[in-house]
Amino acid sequence: ARVVFSGIQPTGIPHLGNFLGALLNWVKLQREAPLDDQLIFSIVGWHALTLPQDPHALSVARREMLAVLLAIGLDPNRSIIFHQDENPHHTELAWILNCITPMGKLRRMTTWKSRLATSRNARDESEVDESMLNAGLFTYPVLQAADILIYRTTHVPVGEDQQQHIELCRDLADNFNRTFKSQHPLFPLPQHVQTPSPRVLSLRDPSAKMSKSSPDIQSRILLTDNAALIKAKIRGAVTDPIVGVTYDPEARPGATNLLTILAACTGKEVSEVATRYHDKGHGKLKADVTEAVEEVMRRPRAEFEKLKGETEYLSSVARAGISKARELSEVTMKEVRTCVGLV
Ligand code: TYM
Repeated sequence: ARVVFSGIQPTGIPHLGNFLGALLNWVKLQREAPLDDQLIFSIVGWHALTLPQDPHALSVARREMLAVLLAIGLDPNRSIIFHQDENPHHTELAWILNCITPMGKLRRMTTWKSRLATSRNARDESEVDESMLNAGLFTYPVLQAADILIYRTTHVPVGEDQQQHIELCRDLADNFNRTFKSQHPLFPLPQHVQTPSPRVLSLRDPSAKMSKSSPDIQSRILLTDNAALIKAKIRGAVTDPIVGVTYDPEARPGATNLLTILAACTGKEVSEVATRYHDKGHGKLKADVTEAVEEVMRRPRAEFEKLKGETEYLSSVARAGISKARELSEVTMKEVRTCVGLV
C-alpha cells in the first residue's frame, strides 16, 4: 500500500495553478486510491513563515485553506487533513535532517536561486548577496523533506515546480538510511507523482508561472473569483498576434498556456485540444477557456462560501486530523531518535 503525502501553503486563496497543478489531483487520488492507501494532506503554516506574513491574515488564510480542501472534495473520513504547524515532530525531524544536509545542495535549489536573483535585482547589485534573505528560506526544502519522510511517504503528488525538492528529499532519505543503519532502511525513497497538468503560467506574463506572490492580481484566477471576474481575467490574458492557435511552449507561451488550462479543465490531452483550435482565433479559445474554468470552479467556490464561516466544524476537522497525524509521526520519531542516539 502507498503512503501519499502532499502539502500546500496557507498563503491566501489558491489560484488556478494550485488548483489544476495540485488540488484537483489530490481529489482524483482520493477517488481512485485503493482503500489501504494512506492519504495525508497538510496545510504547511511553517513554510508560509519563510516570507513575511501579516499574523492576522495568516491565521485567516490558515483556516480558509482548510475550508478550501474540504470544499474541493477532500473527505476527512478518508484522508488525514491537518495543520503541519500543529505537529512538532516535523520540526524535530527537520532539525535532524538539517544536520545531514550539505549547504551546496540547498544552494542549487532553483527556488533559492530565484529568491537570490530577485533580491539582487531589487538592490541592483551584481554580487550574490545572501545577507538579506532569512535562513528559513534556505532550509525550506529540508522542512519539506521532513513533512514527507515523517509519515514514511512513498508518493508525493506536486506540481513540476516542486520536483527538485522531492529529489532532495530522496537524497536525504537515502543519506539518513545509510548514515544511521537500523535493521531496515527507515525511510522509503518517495516518488514524485506527476500531475496530469504541467505548469499553469501567469495570464499577464506567460514567461513566469502563475503565482500567489505576483503583485498583478489580473495574472491569476482565484478559487473565489466569480464568473464575471474569470471572464475578465481570461479576456485580458496575454497571447500573440499570430492567426490560428498552436501548441508551442517556446514561441507562443500565452496561447499554449490557454490550451493547457483548457485541457486540464476538461480532462483532455493538450495535443487533442490543440488540433481543434489550429484554424480558430484567440477569441474563440478564450471564450471556451472561460467556460471550462467556470465549470470546474463553480462547485468548489459555492462549497467554500458555505464552509468558510463554519469555524466550529473546521476546528473539529483540524483536531481529528492532527491527532491521527501525530499518532503516525510519533512512531517514526521514536525510531529516528533511536537511530541517531537521542535516547
Ligand atoms: P505551494 O503552496 O506553493 O503550492 C501548492 C501546490 O501547487 C502547485 N503549483 C502549481 N502547479 C501548476 N502550476 C502552477 N503555476 C503552480 N503553482 C503552484 C505546487 O507544485 C504544489 O504542488 N513546497 C510546497 C508545499 C509543501 C509540500 C510539502 C508539498 C511543503 N511541504 C511536502 C508536498 C510535500 C509549496 O510551496 O507548495
